[in-house]
Amino acid sequence: MYIDNNNGLLSAPEIPAMQQSLFDELKTCYPILRWAGGKRWLKPNLDKYLPKNGFNNYHEPFVGGAAILLHLRPQKAYISDLNSGLINAYKAVRDHPHELISFLKEFKNIEEEYYKIRKIEFDDEIQEAARFIYLNYASFNGIFRVNLKGEYNVPYGKRIGFIYNYENLLNVSNALKNVHMSSGDFVNSLINIKQGDLIFLDPPYTVTHNNNGFIQYNKKIFSIEEQVKLSNMITKIKEIGAIYIMTNAAHPKIKEIFNHGDSIFEVSRGSSIGGKNAKRGQFSEYIFTNGV
Ligand SMILES: C[S@@+](CC[C@H](N)C(=O)[O-])C[C@H]1O[C@@H](n2cnc3c(N)ncnc32)[C@H](O)[C@@H]1O
Repeated sequence: MYIDNNNGLLSAPEIPAMQQSLFDELKTCYPILRWAGGKRWLKPNLDKYLPKNGFNNYHEPFVGGAAILLHLRPQKAYISDLNSGLINAYKAVRDHPHELISFLKEFKNIEEEYYKIRKIEFDDEIQEAARFIYLNYASFNGIFRVNLKGEYNVPYGKRIGFIYNYENLLNVSNALKNVHMSSGDFVNSLINIKQGDLIFLDPPYTVTHNNNGFIQYNKKIFSIEEQVKLSNMITKIKEIGAIYIMTNAAHPKIKEIFNHGDSIFEVSRGSSIGGKNAKRGQFSEYIFTNGV
């Protein structure tokens, strides 16, 4: 049983029509984590932006919840993210799924237990991965937020009746078998990119949607300077002869920074940032690519 009571931030089982995978021998799977900025909404229309002649290796240097990776399930992929706890969790899912599940089953979705586990840091990497996944599903809104000391400080989510889908976790484990993982800054991923590869870039958005302001918290996380650094990386990707697809905020500044003469699409979607009581509505995003 699977209960999604989190305003779309949590990934739900797929509708069969969306299950077109490049490698159908694998079972359908969907993200094991709730992740802000998740790209589940893009999957039904993703084909439009994929290179028509296919691609060699796949790269996702801002992997987050991995919605696109798990949708495409390419034969060989490289993923990374600045969040080392996240990458440790994916490594445990890939390499030790059964041990991970047994640790996960020990953690109960009860307020007292949540705060107890939130305080602990395990030396064992698999146990720490289980803690990361548990805190993500049992927390309020599944956001990843740490205090100045780097301690996870999201409150308990009171997600009564939530049952974790272990079968999906096992399917994700299989889907990750040929996926190379590392944690770190996105520029490090350049080292593995070769001609004919596809790079899906989904950075945190720096600017608010459709206005000129900066989001306070995002300013700290991903600055305009980092957007410029990303644009320079795109120049290198193109020099290598690889294809990129990048999603970003629909904002004039973004258009200016990523002025590579490639295709730009504007897509609208309902926002799911901020949970039940947050402002929700239609927002625009840009999709840039040199592939179509
Ligand atoms: C918008 S989210 C990606 C969401 C993902 N596409 C999904 O479907 O869930 C952006 C990700 O970039 C990561 N990130 C932030 N700054 C980064 C950096 N400098 N290098 C690599 N990853 C970074 C964050 O940890 C976050 O997971």
